Amino acid sequence: MIFSSFGTKLTGESGILRLMDDLGRPLPEGVTPCRLGGGNPARVPAVEKAYRREMERLLSWGDAFECAISQYDPPQGRLRFIEALVTFFNREYGWDIGPENVAITNGSQSAFFYLFNLLSGERPERRTILFPLVPEYIGYADQGIYPGTFVTLPSKIELLDNHEFKYRLDVDLVREYLGSHPEVAAICVSRPTNPTGNVLTNDEIDALSAVAEAHGVPLMVDNAYGMPFPDIIFPEVIEGTAAPRWNRNTILSMSLSKIGLPALRTGIVVADPQIVSALSALNSIAALASGSLGQVLAEGLVSSGELKRLATSEVQPFYREKSRFAREAIRDAMAGRNWMHHRNEGSMFLWLYFPDLRVGTSELYARLKERGVVVVPGEYFFFGPEGGVPEETAWREHPHRFRCVRVNYARPENEILEGFRLIAEVSASLLP
Ligand SMILES: Cc1ncc(COP(=O)(O)O)c(C=O)c1O
Repeated sequence: MIFSSFGTKLTGESGILRLMDDLGRPLPEGVTPCRLGGGNPARVPAVEKAYRREMERLLSWGDAFECAISQYDPPQGRLRFIEALVTFFNREYGWDIGPENVAITNGSQSAFFYLFNLLSGERPERRTILFPLVPEYIGYADQGIYPGTFVTLPSKIELLDNHEFKYRLDVDLVREYLGSHPEVAAICVSRPTNPTGNVLTNDEIDALSAVAEAHGVPLMVDNAYGMPFPDIIFPEVIEGTAAPRWNRNTILSMSLSKIGLPALRTGIVVADPQIVSALSALNSIAALASGSLGQVLAEGLVSSGELKRLATSEVQPFYREKSRFAREAIRDAMAGRNWMHHRNEGSMFLWLYFPDLRVGTSELYARLKERGVVVVPGEYFFFGPEGGVPEETAWREHPHRFRCVRVNYARPENEILEGFRLIAEVSASLLP
């Protein structure tokens, strides 16, 4: 069968598709599975209890349940849910948004697919999306319909005490790049960052926002792990605060996936009305509407402030403890060795760095998988146009590109302990 260029680009042989396929394949027989690779959030009992209560309430009110499941919502999203969000955000953060500023999508992943392709591609000349801080979320890498429209800039590395480091935005590089690349159509960052657990500081966000504004391009901020929900951010570790910032030039994306509803696919975008109408149009063409049930279950929780309270008092401490346990476990396992991890400021991932590894992390991944441990090799989080012009290849020289792996620390303790023991053992066998 002959596919279109759209089909070819999205189904083609990409390293990431191959990796995703491999991640899902069975582990060898007889090993103890330690599935530290995926992005599945953990189950947090208090959050599940709140959704169960909302579901029971829905079922007990006349035909409320049947009404919720028997009609399409408008493509922009369910009006009552959008109004609940608008009231909540204005109250919580002093914003001045209306329903025309909010769109609901089937998960934030599809929001990004719409947004990237709305803004980049051929118009008629090539327009690009700039990711100013690689390593960056693997899930973006293949979302552009047109080849070569995603460009990335490498992060700076700041070494900290205690086997830790932090990636910093190179604001001058971003400014310089934008100055000489008028084809950039938008800037995009995840905050907290998947895979590193980095939380860009307010200064970094303000600098990006200013540079975006100066060049007339929107700043997209992916807040899938951020405040107010799920709030997987550790305030005692970050510099300053991490309350979401919004202005008319910002496209802020959120998700209910990491606060209990990954299966109900509920993404939230706060943006300028022109972007919101465009998202509604794209959603109606691609999907008619977004699923209703997540919006119905979350509406009352947003309005009452309970979702935010659950995030801060249940979800955040839950992941904080998981993070503490994982960091202690990896320290014990790697004692006496040369290794580091990114300071864990948020998200549910630890980003481990093995400076002396003699092979790339794809090889480390394969060796670990033979022993039952699944991680994600770091090189996939460094992406950009193949065969790009020389300056766009700077990310390829990033010293961490082949030396890092991402682990999901939201796994049961026995998997963390065994997984880290094997990561230490197998990586030791791959030193010079
Ligand atoms: C940084 C980031 N953005 C977006 C998503 C997409 O999430 P969802 O489509 O479930 O809202 C994920 C999922 O893991 C993520 O890690």
